[in-house]
Amino acid sequence: MARKVAVLVGSLRKGSFTRKVAAAIAELAPKELAFEPLEIDDLPLYNQDVDTTTPPEPWQRLRERVRACDAVLFATPEYNRSVPGVLKNAIDVGSRPYGKSAWAGKPAAIVSVAPGHVGAFGANHHLRQMLVFLDMPALQQPEMYVSGADKLFDAAGKLASDTTRQLFVKFGAAFARWIERTAPARER
Ligand SMILES: Cc1cc2nc3c(=O)[nH]c(=O)nc-3n(C[C@H](O)[C@H](O)[C@H](O)COP(=O)(O)O)c2cc1C
Repeated sequence: MARKVAVLVGSLRKGSFTRKVAAAIAELAPKELAFEPLEIDDLPLYNQDVDTTTPPEPWQRLRERVRACDAVLFATPEYNRSVPGVLKNAIDVGSRPYGKSAWAGKPAAIVSVAPGHVGAFGANHHLRQMLVFLDMPALQQPEMYVSGADKLFDAAGKLASDTTRQLFVKFGAAFARWIERTAPARER
């Protein structure tokens, strides 16, 4: 049975390079991974005051959908050397109520994306720091800092570079192995 991978993209922009990269990785990944995009644009900002027994419906939906997945792919741009607020908000929402985090124990992989040369290294590593606290075993290698993202795709939206395609294939295969190692077919 395929392993379900939730995909969170930290950009709400229509033409987001990060979203395109996430889609390309999903397309090139082994067939035993079934990717499921989780939209985060309608999540109210996290506020502990309203995190009661009847929290906002979009929070509940996110938590349930994360719980139903075997693993999580985080695709993040970099805003001011960290993750965009929308992604941090989704992470905060999923992490509560205290002791009932939807993220706990789910294997994760991170791809960070930027048009510039540094490949959103700062965002990637801020996110890694969060995953330690969230108890999400994070894929270490290959690290995936995608730079020059504005030149990766042709006019039809297809990957223009074979080298990048091969890197994405390698990343998807490593993530599939990582999921089997860290979340063996258990719990399902
Ligand atoms: C508020 C803001 C802060 C940004 N900070 C950074 C940054 O720290 N490093 C970087 O490489 N690019 C930065 N950028 C540029 C983004 O990398 C660029 O807008 C990118 O296209 C965003 O990803 P997306 O295409 O998936 O929306 C920033 C953009 C915005 C809007």
